[in-house]
Amino acid sequence: MSVQLSIRNLTKRYKTGEGVTDISLDVKKGELVTLLGPSGCGKTTVLRSIGGFLEPDSGEIMIASRNVVKLPPEKRPTSMVFQGYNLWPHMSIYENLAFGLKIRKTPKSEIKSAVEEALRLVRLPGVEKKFPSQLSGGQQQRIAVARSLLLKPEVLLLDEPFSALDAKLRHEMREELREIQTETGLTMVFVTHDQEEALSLSDRIIVMNQGNIEQIAAPQDIYDSPDTLFVAQFIGKMNFLKGVVEEDKLRVGSLVFPNTKRLEGSIVIAVRPEDVMIVADSGEGDGLHGTIKQMMVLGHYAEVSVELDGHGTIRAFQPRDRVKELSMGQRVTVAFAKVIAYPNK
Ligand SMILES: Nc1ncnc2c1ncn2[C@@H]1O[C@H](COP(=O)(O)OP(=O)(O)OP(=O)(O)O)[C@@H](O)[C@H]1O
Ligand SMILES: [Mg+2]
Repeated sequence: MSVQLSIRNLTKRYKTGEGVTDISLDVKKGELVTLLGPSGCGKTTVLRSIGGFLEPDSGEIMIASRNVVKLPPEKRPTSMVFQGYNLWPHMSIYENLAFGLKIRKTPKSEIKSAVEEALRLVRLPGVEKKFPSQLSGGQQQRIAVARSLLLKPEVLLLDEPFSALDAKLRHEMREELREIQTETGLTMVFVTHDQEEALSLSDRIIVMNQGNIEQIAAPQDIYDSPDTLFVAQFIGKMNFLKGVVEEDKLRVGSLVFPNTKRLEGSIVIAVRPEDVMIVADSGEGDGLHGTIKQMMVLGHYAEVSVELDGHGTIRAFQPRDRVKELSMGQRVTVAFAKVIAYPNK
């Protein structure tokens, strides 16, 4: 697939010194990528630079092989969906949607059918005559998406578009956005600080931290193999234990693992709760020993907290049936199916 959006060495520093530094990334045609990271990490700064609402200090932004850095927003082949819906309250939905096309001098009959098609895509056919105030928040956000789709952008930019909606609606909107993407083949850059949203929605995730990119990868790879300690902490639930490299093996207490990353000295071991194995053997077997401190049944699985002797508390996900064999205060042995190691800085 061809590259639709290419950012090279983008730097944008505000007067305060904050911003983003040396951002490079490629988005393929038809791909949905998310910029994910904590508040203030620079997601909106990158998105606004793509849309032309911010002038970068340096770097290139190519869309369909054309450098757009010098173009104002209206001349760029992008359109942006904001967190607030930004619909004009005194205009009907039809007028809100038709506005951009009228400016482009699109013939009336074409506008009418394009608006109909866009409303169908966002599952709101027939609301042309209504006013924004007569629609719910979720419906207004759908209209905002429809308005952007009508401009037939080469890249659609979405900045936390669903964050004002309740959890259930947010979930639905994600699925709908995915369907729209499949149907239209549109290239999208989506901004969120919600890791679950990013994991469920994206072809690839760009994890950002403090104005830099930490990792770019598919959701499953980000989850299975976080490149940095930051990504390991930010994505999903994770346990962290201190360890050490000895004789080219990673060691945590009596547990040893291969040193695939060739680390040295003091390390941090990361373990997903689903990779923690618990053996009810009075805490005498091979592994780390500890005492069960808490058990919470969460539907089809349970979260078990074990206070390890000298290694802190660890959380484990266990199948619900398994938990019946365990009890509070019980001594157990813990081992890990899979670990990821990082230098302890
Ligand atoms: N106009 C501005 N002037 C000065 N500093 C700014 C400006 N806009 C953003 N910043 C700073 O730049 C950094 C990145 O901001 P940005 O809005 O890109 O973050 P973000 O990742 O979108 O955060 P959020 O998740 O809160 O929306 C932040 O530290 C922010 O305070
Ligand atoms: Mg932002």
